[in-house]
Amino acid sequence: MVVLPQRAELPLPHIHSLPRHVAIIMDGNGRWARARGLSRNDGHRAGAEALRSVIERFAEHGVEAVTLFAFSTENWGRPRSEVDGIMRLAARVIDRELNTFHESGIQLQHLGDLAALPKGLQSRVAKAVRRTQQNTGMTVNLAFNYGGRADIVEAVRHLVAAGVRPEDVTEAAISSHLTTAALPDPDLLIRTGGERRISNFLVWQAAYSEYYFTPVQWPDFGAAEVDEALLEFSRRRRRFGLVPEDVGTDA
Ligand code: FPP
Repeated sequence: MVVLPQRAELPLPHIHSLPRHVAIIMDGNGRWARARGLSRNDGHRAGAEALRSVIERFAEHGVEAVTLFAFSTENWGRPRSEVDGIMRLAARVIDRELNTFHESGIQLQHLGDLAALPKGLQSRVAKAVRRTQQNTGMTVNLAFNYGGRADIVEAVRHLVAAGVRPEDVTEAAISSHLTTAALPDPDLLIRTGGERRISNFLVWQAAYSEYYFTPVQWPDFGAAEVDEALLEFSRRRRRFGLVPEDVGTDA
């Protein structure tokens, strides 16, 4: 059984406040590949290689949940060969990594519309979620065929279908019907690849997230970059719309 090292045993930088939930937009695979004369699918394969060390590093730090934006509802518009390549890659990643994740106590969850994915991928995702559901370690959410606006639309549809009265449509009611209902909102949202936008990722949930944009392309993002992002997060003063005294900081 693979046991992740305990935090105290690791030479981790001193980080005084950790995010509970980190969301990541894994961008830059295509540019990473182009710079090396490789195909876009080669870039995605390199991106998949980066996953393990990043997940392990967050787990070593004691982060409770990591949400990875692997395929957006808009990504269907990419060339067929690229979409097919990402679908096949996702299936291979699950086949290859599921045992390791399970033995490390990781709980895998899926965010987004599973029904539109190829049958083989659907069944792998469902199996991975089932197999790891009793695990009590870090939660890894794979946002695959996920769109933030679609998530909100679905939540509102549930409320309407349940006959909820307009005055009972509250922020809490909407939050509790999002696919992320069981998770805390992301404290930290990381986007690699140099762009500074959230591209329909967790648009509701990221209302008070700290955003961390880095020019590093996703395939080059590793343990050192995780440490850097967490250090930067620990320097931020979060106010949630309040004044400094109300949130107990002198910033
Ligand atoms: C964005 O880079 C990346 C994606 C749309 C795919 C993300 C997939 C992975 C990181 C690896 C696969 C992981 C799983 C679980 C399937 P981009 O193609 O937009 O890069 P670019 O902006 O440089 O073109």
